[in-house]
Amino acid sequence: MRICCLQIMLLSVVQLFFSYCSLAAFSVQNNFFYQDIFRANGKKEIYFSDVRLHVDSAQPSVFAVRGGNTTLPCRFWYERKPSSQREARIKWSWLPASGRHEEDVLVAIGSHIRSFGVFRGRVELRQDFPGDAALVMTDLQLNDTGRYRCEVVDGLEDKSATVHLELQGVVFPYQHPRGRYHLSFLGAQQVCEEQDSTLATFTQLFQSWKEGLNWCNAGWLADGTVQYPITQPRVPCGGHSLAPGVRSYGRRHLKLHRYDVFCFSSSIRGKVYYLESSQKMNLTESQRACQEDGAEIAKVGQLYAAWRFAGLDRCDAGWLADGSVRYPISRPRRNCGPPEPGVRSFGFPPLQHKHGVYCYKLDD
Ligand SMILES: *[C@@H]1O[C@H](CO)[C@@H](O)[C@H](O)[C@H]1NC(C)=O
Ligand SMILES: *[C@@H]1O[C@H](CO)[C@@H](O)[C@H](O)[C@H]1NC(C)=O
Ligand SMILES: *[C@@H]1O[C@H](CO)[C@@H](O)[C@H](O)[C@H]1NC(C)=O
Repeated sequence: MRICCLQIMLLSVVQLFFSYCSLAAFSVQNNFFYQDIFRANGKKEIYFSDVRLHVDSAQPSVFAVRGGNTTLPCRFWYERKPSSQREARIKWSWLPASGRHEEDVLVAIGSHIRSFGVFRGRVELRQDFPGDAALVMTDLQLNDTGRYRCEVVDGLEDKSATVHLELQGVVFPYQHPRGRYHLSFLGAQQVCEEQDSTLATFTQLFQSWKEGLNWCNAGWLADGTVQYPITQPRVPCGGHSLAPGVRSYGRRHLKLHRYDVFCFSSSIRGKVYYLESSQKMNLTESQRACQEDGAEIAKVGQLYAAWRFAGLDRCDAGWLADGSVRYPISRPRRNCGPPEPGVRSFGFPPLQHKHGVYCYKLDD
């Protein structure tokens, strides 16, 4: 009892001291110790515990590419060296960029480690040094992006840090073959997947807008909202009076409402190339020609990835797997479309029309 009073007295002195200094020296971010002292309203256990847990991440966000590996940093330490061997519980969870519920990624207690769901077999704890709780992820998928939380629990103490995982990639608007505004949310998800891509997140669309994407048709995003990026305001796109920006229609009904979609693709294994051929072909002939070349007709997401990551540049229109005709330009020039780099589209011509073709082949 007396010890307790003494500690509380000491605490008041300490509190005074810290209140005095708080604006100057101790307004350090992310320092749980001082924050707890300021909120010392009856949380006595904090002062009696002989160790204090800290968790942080060296990087708030990490960038990677599809198919690659990455490490999400996280470490924990005790303020005072624990007198006995302690066994903290480490848990990584994931809040997908699509904003659904949080999912378990991995749980570790000592040497017992379990991974869950889509992460099974793809994640490990690094454990390079005491307190290292970094998450090593392999074979990254397009839809792995989002917020990862590293939580460490030791007795009553429970601290966490978060790391955002983003993939380097390219966002492209996509329309149904029948034209503008024909896709429900599920339809949008499906066409992106069929074209080797995934629904873009708001972060990805926003990044593309910063890089100049200017698109006047509204499209679905992964979180179920419908938005469009405008860099050059003009009359049919909300008028001149609105500032440039990503404009949002908000959440729309996933089944009833129909729009276009923004898909996201990242780097690909293998290559996309224009098939050198003596004659132009219709769609079925194009598919066969790629197969005869040991390849398959390229998907739209693959063409965008090759344009973005491999600098594919070809001023010849070619068929793609979805029945559209496009060509990739990295170095704009006369007679090859607008003055900006980009993938140009002729939409979905009649299938018997004759064009070139873009094929996709895994490296041989
Ligand atoms: C990722 O890690 C796995 C396992 O450690 C390794 O086999 C693979 O080559 C790595 N991939 C890349 C792209 O570095
Ligand atoms: C993520 O994409 C992979 C294929 O790339 C798919 O198998 C998986 O179901 C997707 N996960 C989610 C949560 O949509
Ligand atoms: C493409 O041409 C072939 C003949 O070379 C023909 O059999 C096929 O029906 C044509 N396909 C389309 C979609 O027009």
